[in-house]
Amino acid sequence: MNKPLISKAFNPDNFRHQGHLLVELLGDYLESALQSSTPVNRWRDPEDQLTFWQNDYKEGDRQLEHFFKKLIDSSLHMHNPKNMGHQVAIPAPEAALAGLLTELLNNGTVVYEIGAPAVVLERVVCKQLAQEMGFDPGKADGFMTSGASLANLTALMAIRNIKAGEDVWNKGNNKQYALMVSEEAHYCIDKSLRIMGLGEAGTIRIPVDEHYKVRVEMLESAYRAARDRGVEVLGIIGCSCSTSTGTYEELEPLADFAQAHNLWFHVDAAHGGPAIFSKKHRHRLKGIERADSVVMDFHKMMMTPALSTAIIFREAKHSYRSFSQKAQYLWEEQEKKSWFNLGQRSFECTKLMMSIKIYTLLRQYGTALFEEYIDYTYDLAQSFAGMLKQESDLELALQPETNVVCFRYKPGKLSSASLSKLNSLIRKKLIEDGEFYIVQTQLKEDIWLRVTLMNPFTTTVELRALLEKIKQLGRQLVSEQ
Ligand SMILES: Cc1ncc(COP(=O)(O)O)c(C=O)c1O
Repeated sequence: MNKPLISKAFNPDNFRHQGHLLVELLGDYLESALQSSTPVNRWRDPEDQLTFWQNDYKEGDRQLEHFFKKLIDSSLHMHNPKNMGHQVAIPAPEAALAGLLTELLNNGTVVYEIGAPAVVLERVVCKQLAQEMGFDPGKADGFMTSGASLANLTALMAIRNIKAGEDVWNKGNNKQYALMVSEEAHYCIDKSLRIMGLGEAGTIRIPVDEHYKVRVEMLESAYRAARDRGVEVLGIIGCSCSTSTGTYEELEPLADFAQAHNLWFHVDAAHGGPAIFSKKHRHRLKGIERADSVVMDFHKMMMTPALSTAIIFREAKHSYRSFSQKAQYLWEEQEKKSWFNLGQRSFECTKLMMSIKIYTLLRQYGTALFEEYIDYTYDLAQSFAGMLKQESDLELALQPETNVVCFRYKPGKLSSASLSKLNSLIRKKLIEDGEFYIVQTQLKEDIWLRVTLMNPFTTTVELRALLEKIKQLGRQLVSEQ
């Protein structure tokens, strides 16, 4: 059979030609984004965006280069220093090149034989991480999975299988199990516990103090109250750091509490874990070495394209306890645990070669790259907080501990509700304008503006310009009311 289209789609010369054009385009994007010479975002509302792409398809222009260019122009420019929005990595270009490499090779990592180097490099990366966290790398082990939401679910599944005094994997929940966690924890914890059939009661939320840290003095009463309700508490989770405010939990008291009550101690270090690489900031994670399991994203604070997350268990054997799946077509000896058959431990079957991007950066620069990044972005947040404190019509929510800063525009005396509305409107205008990208969050009852200083090229110059723009928009909105 003649296969003209397949032959064209796989033509190596065509690939070389298109690839060179793409790298040129991306080089131009990088240059202009880093210099802020294009907007962070060209805002279109969802219906306009849909029409735009429906028209693109109808137009029938099959020039790949035109499509790539359109896509770049329409996307959020993460590398622009005026991008200060979500906790998503600003990818280091070499890691992105590694991404192109793995996309074409497309080895899976479910078992050793389909993706040998990627499987083994997962082990290399996880062992290194375990060591940095203060675990014994001879005893600890882990693997990688698609994002911290899935990693936390995977850890919680293991915790239940290990700690529940019954065979939940085969027989389901016969009791109400729960885990204790800060009320500021990422929503994926609650979501995971609900997925596990534990419902709303699966999460015991511990209130936080004025610094947004868990109120340690409330742990005992919350634990006892749960037990009195007939709930079996399996473990306690520390947030390093919380999502909204970037606050690190004091891990030592949580570890003590877990030890005293024979509970599992899990740490969600999706965002703040890489501070482990910084001599200046690693004290924030003191106590992590006492955790039974830790989750950390590479695709947040380690300049690695998504998705790329590690889940580390202090004891290697526990890393096999989340799932227990027979798969005759993948591994012959069903009961034998083999570190190199990752599908025995991960939720995914087909799994990306996700170790390659982070390994590329580790290999090129060592952990010093991450230390430099953490130190720069965390220090920048301190400078920003200092700037905010000097402004009479701006308010800092709390002193940052990471690169997350929450603040609001606060002219004169307005009610909390009016301030929330005003700050939401300011952010809406900022997004439509496209020069800056920032986000918002809810703290207690109120809406605050929020920046995550992910971009290592953001300086106080862009931050000053952002504050001027916010004040200008704020004044305008107040005068229109
Ligand atoms: C503390 C924390 N845990 C988990 C998550 C979820 O991570 P992912 O987006 O990798 O699923 C986030 C995301 O912001 C987070 O901040």
